[in-house]
Amino acid sequence: MKKGFIFDLDGVIVDTAKYHYLAWKKLANDLGFEFTKEQNELFKGVSRKRCLEILLEIGNREATQEEFDTWMVEKNIDYLKYIEHMDASEILPDVPKVLNYLKENNIPIALGSASKNARPILEKVGLLSYFNVIVDGNNVTKAKPDPEVFLIAAKQLGVFAENCVVFEDAVAGIEAANTAKMASIGIGDASVLDKAKHNFNDFTEISTDFISQLIHK
Ligand code: BG6
Ligand code: MG
Repeated sequence: MKKGFIFDLDGVIVDTAKYHYLAWKKLANDLGFEFTKEQNELFKGVSRKRCLEILLEIGNREATQEEFDTWMVEKNIDYLKYIEHMDASEILPDVPKVLNYLKENNIPIALGSASKNARPILEKVGLLSYFNVIVDGNNVTKAKPDPEVFLIAAKQLGVFAENCVVFEDAVAGIEAANTAKMASIGIGDASVLDKAKHNFNDFTEISTDFISQLIHK
């Protein structure tokens, strides 16, 4: 049975949540209200558009369509300034261990991310060449928890959805993987990602033996 492995980007491969947070916080402050790290948890795995909608709800702000569009652009310009300087040192611990093991075993690898900045980030940290397929925010019409992003990735990998494994740090992402009938692996707090099939705090807890079991299941 041919297997495929799909990775989310933000919070799984790199810790970009802190940069998203700083960029959203700047926008909130410019608009005259606060945005906390706790509130930023709601933004994980969520599309840029939906994030701005939530931010405006938090700040109790109305926006014209023109303002909404301008603020989306402003937030992204600010975010791009943070990711501009990213390099391999920002890859989360033991991610290369798992990617290398999959490569050595000729297992196809896909990215399944909500971000429209996924490709440049993978390039900057030097991991782009590991991915056979990249599906990101530019290729989907429905955001997680809709399974679209993972289903497109499986199709492009040429692997049945039920033979795919998904690594995710967001509740919406775990739900998307489960709906797609893929094996969901939660990276982060198990009490938050309680719908995941397996849970780990990070990749240092994932052995190559475990990956091997997933490949041969
Ligand atoms: C997800 C992040 O991966 O991408 C979200 O978890 C983010 O926080 C979303 O909003 C969209 O990212 P971008 O780079 O297109 O603004
Ligand atoms: Mg994520």
